[in-house]
Amino acid sequence: MDIDTSEIIGQSTSLKDVFKVLAKVAPTDSTVLVTGESGTGKELLVRALHRSSARKDKPFVPINCGAIPKDLLESELFGHEKGAFTHALRMRPGRFELADGGTIFLDEIGEMDLSLQVKILRVLQEKEIERVGGVGGKKVDVRVVAATNRDLEQAVLAGQFREDLFYRLNVIPLHLPPLRERGGDVSVLADYFLEGFCRKGGRKKIVFDPRAGAVLDHYSWPGNVRELENIMERLSILVDGNIVTLEDLPRKILDSAGDAAALVSAPAQGAPVAAAAGAAEAAARGFVWPALADLQKYRMNLRDFLEYIEEKLLKEALEISGGVKNQAAEALGIKRTTLIEKLKKRNME
Ligand SMILES: Nc1ncnc2c1ncn2[C@@H]1O[C@H](COP(=O)(O)OP(=O)(O)OP(=O)(O)O)[C@@H](O)[C@H]1O
Ligand SMILES: [Mg+2]
Repeated sequence: MDIDTSEIIGQSTSLKDVFKVLAKVAPTDSTVLVTGESGTGKELLVRALHRSSARKDKPFVPINCGAIPKDLLESELFGHEKGAFTHALRMRPGRFELADGGTIFLDEIGEMDLSLQVKILRVLQEKEIERVGGVGGKKVDVRVVAATNRDLEQAVLAGQFREDLFYRLNVIPLHLPPLRERGGDVSVLADYFLEGFCRKGGRKKIVFDPRAGAVLDHYSWPGNVRELENIMERLSILVDGNIVTLEDLPRKILDSAGDAAALVSAPAQGAPVAAAAGAAEAAARGFVWPALADLQKYRMNLRDFLEYIEEKLLKEALEISGGVKNQAAEALGIKRTTLIEKLKKRNME
């Protein structure tokens, strides 16, 4: 069976390794435990798993075990009989019953109370649930997939997670590496999200200048893909012009970047994009014509590259002329009306 990971963007080997395991485990009924830091795409992966399984036309029922108060979680999961407790005015099926034939996704399983953990273990072993206030079990055919951002082995040692349940869940472990360990995926994801948000916002595609791109690559992304996605949304709204420059990046990222920016601005010989990034530096080193390799190195196509250089020069001309357009146009050797047109096109007025 083909697996459908189309929504999960990335080309790193570490992500491809996860897909390989996914392809093997998806068609089975095995229990899967997905681990990974917050924002690494655990939910996305679990949804892909369900979509790629024989159960795909049956329900996918997620439940966040960390978000539901522990008194309510049991009846959410297993349902309750009429009169089981004060407000139980009628019988209500639980999520396991709703997921019959399909997949239940126990998200944040690490937050589950020890007493409930026993009951989950029982479902996994007996394939049977018992409603709160009910007598006798009811058979269910449900595949269980769980996820957590906690280190469950550690939780077991600390007595917060049942060892037997851990082993029962961990039949097939799927670990999503943090974004900082997915070499190259940062730029792929950044482009993907930025393009998507620009399209949604009805604006032209914007691109990163090499320094901004390098800083993003070096950042540690503690909030992983979610953090990256949110920042791209912000940039798609706030950036003037068609190029994301260093100054556009959030303070937090710039501060953590340290010398990453300097790395790019003082490149080895013959890195002309960086030369374009600082006219003074270029003058000091002597101008070097761009080569095709530069486009590849900075993942720009010809058009983006030329746009980038033009925008840099426009900005500099405006700066030295203190915003006086006549002077800026003169410095650039173009007509005032042409300058205005170019600025308009970039929302730089
Ligand atoms: N590889 C990816 N490609 C595209 N989008 C992604 C990718 N990974 C994560 N996302 C997006 O990032 C956000 C966070 O992903 P998700 O909710 O799956 O993470 P999580 O690991 O479940 O996080 P948490 O532990 O905080 O619950 C979502 O908007 C998701 O669509
Ligand atoms: Mg999640």
